[in-house]
Amino acid sequence: MTTDFKLSAESEPPRLGKLSKLARFGLLGAALTVAAGTFAYFGGWFIRDDLTPARFVDGFEQVNGVHAGFRRNHAKGMGVFGFFDSNGNGVRLSQAVIFQPGRVQVIGRFSLGGGHPDVSDKPDAVRGLALQFSLPNGELWRTAMINFPVFPFRTPEAFYEQLIASKPDPNTGKHDPGKMEEFLASHPETVQALTVIKGQPSSSGFDNSTFHSSNAFRFINSAGDSIPVRWIMTPMQPFESANNASIPQDKNYLFNALIAQIHRQPLRWRLIIVIGQPGDPTNDATIPWPAEREQVVVGTLTLDRVESDDTSAATDLNFDPLVLPVGIAPSDDPLLSARSAVYSQSFTRRAGETKQPSAIRPSDVRKGE
Ligand code: HEM
Repeated sequence: MTTDFKLSAESEPPRLGKLSKLARFGLLGAALTVAAGTFAYFGGWFIRDDLTPARFVDGFEQVNGVHAGFRRNHAKGMGVFGFFDSNGNGVRLSQAVIFQPGRVQVIGRFSLGGGHPDVSDKPDAVRGLALQFSLPNGELWRTAMINFPVFPFRTPEAFYEQLIASKPDPNTGKHDPGKMEEFLASHPETVQALTVIKGQPSSSGFDNSTFHSSNAFRFINSAGDSIPVRWIMTPMQPFESANNASIPQDKNYLFNALIAQIHRQPLRWRLIIVIGQPGDPTNDATIPWPAEREQVVVGTLTLDRVESDDTSAATDLNFDPLVLPVGIAPSDDPLLSARSAVYSQSFTRRAGETKQPSAIRPSDVRKGE
């Protein structure tokens, strides 16, 4: 486990602080190869010829073990349902049908980063929100977001390299801090991204988390204009700071709080499109775009029902970020095609296994109904 690096934010020296955040992020997954090699083509993903999607997923399994039927990353999660109301403001930006005024149905999944399906909820664990919008013309839009303002890795190779560096020593069960130091020394962009991530205060729960696309995409409108964008889901529930000092005993406290909140009333987020300007990097998710970039609120997401991964249809979805409707296109970010290829590999493996029960059982979700 990566918590070996965890020290309190107040007491930790800066270097270990970076390690701590990074170690937690390592649970998101990754892959490196040392050999400087020629490039190969795998399912749309240009990579070094020894870093295949299968090798990447092997890396997750080496670090986290194999948990039958579970996602190899973001293994702990829960299904959610609701709808998205578009206000029409997105029509000038993208011809995607979702931006025409009206309502579309949504299925999604909240998750925690990492390959352990039974990991204890922690205030600073990476929180994920994956959504599938079903458009009236039959198209789908899938997006998997996290609550970090930037992603710590610029390339799939860097992610993998860090994943392998986070692997516990079989003799001690602990990570080797030296390997992380080595990784950081050769990845200043990760050090920079972790500073940005640490600068953002953690919220108390899933309900008041902001979720970020992190990767850039392109919007194409009906006139054929193409613009670079990122998107964020900002909560309409009030911000409350995470209490890092006292972690509740309940190992599912983040999920149980979410269940109770949704039973009380639907939860809502605003979908905001951030418009990039020339010079804003579209191929580097570690770099934030300037705060003054134009932001367009294009609608409201309402989530009003939760379901255990044991029964939710979201369990059998692959939230591949390249499932996009006409009007939304990938950017030149190298993470996107890598994600698509690796998610597919993870999906294929878990779909062929008998899934074990989830940490959040159907009876937990029914409590308080
Ligand atoms: C090269 C980069 C990345 C790799 C290799 C990777 C790997 C994975 C894998 C293997 C899964 C499980 C897929 C499945 O079995 O369905 C996953 C899920 C997920 N990833 Fe990534 N990931 C990457 C980047 C990102 C980024 C940039 C974000 C967010 C901005 C992200 C957010 C998520 C979320 C939210 C899930 C859970 C989706 C669900 O609930 O099904 N990942 N990732």
